[in-house]
Amino acid sequence: AENMLWGGRFTQGLDPLMVQYNTSLPYDRVFWKQDIAGSIAFARANTNSGILTQQEFAEIERGFKQIAQEWQTNTFVAKENDEDIHTANERRLGEIIGKDIGGKLHTGRSRNEQIATDMRLWLRDELRLIESHLSDLIKVSIARAENDIAYLMPGYTHLQKAQPVRWSHWILSHATAFASELERLREVIRRVNKSPLGTGALAGNCFNIDREAMAKELGFDGLLYNSMNAVADRDFAMETMQWGSSFMLKISRWAEDLIIYSSLEFGFVRLSDAYSTGSSLMPQKKNADSLELLRGKAGRAFGQMAGLMCTIKGLPTTYNKDLQESVEPMLDHVKTVSDSIQIATGVLSTLTVIPEKMIAALAPEMLATEIADYLVRKGVPFREGHHISGRVVALAENTNVPMDTLSLKQLQEVDARFDADVQACLDYERAVELKDAIGGTSKRAVLEQTAVLKNLL
Ligand code: ARG
Repeated sequence: AENMLWGGRFTQGLDPLMVQYNTSLPYDRVFWKQDIAGSIAFARANTNSGILTQQEFAEIERGFKQIAQEWQTNTFVAKENDEDIHTANERRLGEIIGKDIGGKLHTGRSRNEQIATDMRLWLRDELRLIESHLSDLIKVSIARAENDIAYLMPGYTHLQKAQPVRWSHWILSHATAFASELERLREVIRRVNKSPLGTGALAGNCFNIDREAMAKELGFDGLLYNSMNAVADRDFAMETMQWGSSFMLKISRWAEDLIIYSSLEFGFVRLSDAYSTGSSLMPQKKNADSLELLRGKAGRAFGQMAGLMCTIKGLPTTYNKDLQESVEPMLDHVKTVSDSIQIATGVLSTLTVIPEKMIAALAPEMLATEIADYLVRKGVPFREGHHISGRVVALAENTNVPMDTLSLKQLQEVDARFDADVQACLDYERAVELKDAIGGTSKRAVLEQTAVLKNLL
C-alpha cells in the first residue's frame, strides 16, 4: 500500500478481491476529459494564488496534454494501483513531468470534490445533448402532425372507442407531454451545472483558491456555497434520474399506444423495417421491438433511480464511499434515456400511416355525443339529449343496423324533435371540426398546438 495515493500510514497491501471491489476506473474513465480540465483549472487557480510557479503550471499543462492524447488514442495504460480516474491521471502526470512538480498538483484538493466536479461536467454536456435530441423528437412530432393533418382515427378512453379525433391530435397529445419534460430538463441542467471545485475534502480550501475563476473556466453557471454539501450532494444525479424516469414513463405510454396501433387488429400504422424485427420461427412476424424496448427500458431506468435513492438515504453527511455507487447507475441511466429518445424519433419519422384502417375503425356510435349536442342546439337540456341519444344507440343495436343508417322516421319515433338536418350530424369530419375551442381536435385547434410547441423549441 506504500505506493498507493494514500499509502503513507499503511503497512499492508489490499486483498486482491478488495482491489477489484474498490476500483472505479473501469467506468469512471469516461470522465478523463472532465478530470483533466478540472485539474488544469485547479492548477491555474493555485498558480494565481502563488502556490505554483508559472513554470510549474506550464509543466502540469504539458503533462496533461500528453495524457489527454493518450486517452484520446486509447493508449493510456492503466496500472494496478489506479483506483479511479483521478488517481490514474495524477500517477501518469508524475511519470511524465516528474514527481517533484506532479506532486504539487493536489495541494488543497480532494478526490471528493474532483469526482463531484467530473460527474457534473460530464452530466451537463450529456444533458445538453439530450435536450437537443428531445427537441428533435418534438420537431418530428410537429412535422408529422402538420403533414398528416387530414387523417381521422378513433380516440379512446378506457381503450374503448370514444370520439373521433385527428391522428395529429394524438401525436401532439404526446408531444405536449414531451414538451413538459423539455422544460423540466432545462431546470435540471441549471442545477447540475454548479461547481463544487475548491471545496476540499469537506471543510473548504485553505490556499485562498479563486473558486469563481475555476467555475468560469469550466463553464459552470455558479458555485455550490457550502463545502460539506458540495461533496455530499448527489442531487444532480438523482434529479437527472428522476427526470429521466418521468420521461421514460411518458415515452413508454407513447410506445404502448403505437404497439397497439401497429398490431394487425388495429393496423393504423406500420413500423419501418429499420425499427422492427422478425421471428426466428414464424416467417410472417414483424414485431415492434423498438417500441417494446422503449417500454421495457422504462423499468430499468426507474430501478436505477430507486437504487441511487436507497444508496443515499441515511448516509452520514459529506463523502462516504457509498457515493461511488452513484456513478454506474447514472451512466447507464443517461445512455438509456438518450438512446430511447433517438429511437423514438426514428420510429416516428419512419412509420407509415394507414388512414383507411383508421377510418374503418371509426364506428357510428362514436357520433352518439353529436346527436345529444344536436338536440342541445334545439333547446333540449343536455342531460335529456344524452338520454335520447342513448335510446338511438340502443335502437341501432337492437335492430342490428349501423346507427347512421336509421331513417328519419325511426329517429322521430324516439323523439319528435329530430328534423331532417340530423343526418348531417352523423359525419366524422364534422364532429372533429366542431371541437374548435383551444386545445380541441379541429384542424385549426391542432395547428394552433403546433405553433405553441414551436414557440417552446
Ligand atoms: N472514486 C471515488 C468516487 O467515485 C472518488 C472519491 C474518492 N474519495 C475518497 N475519499 N475515497 O466516489
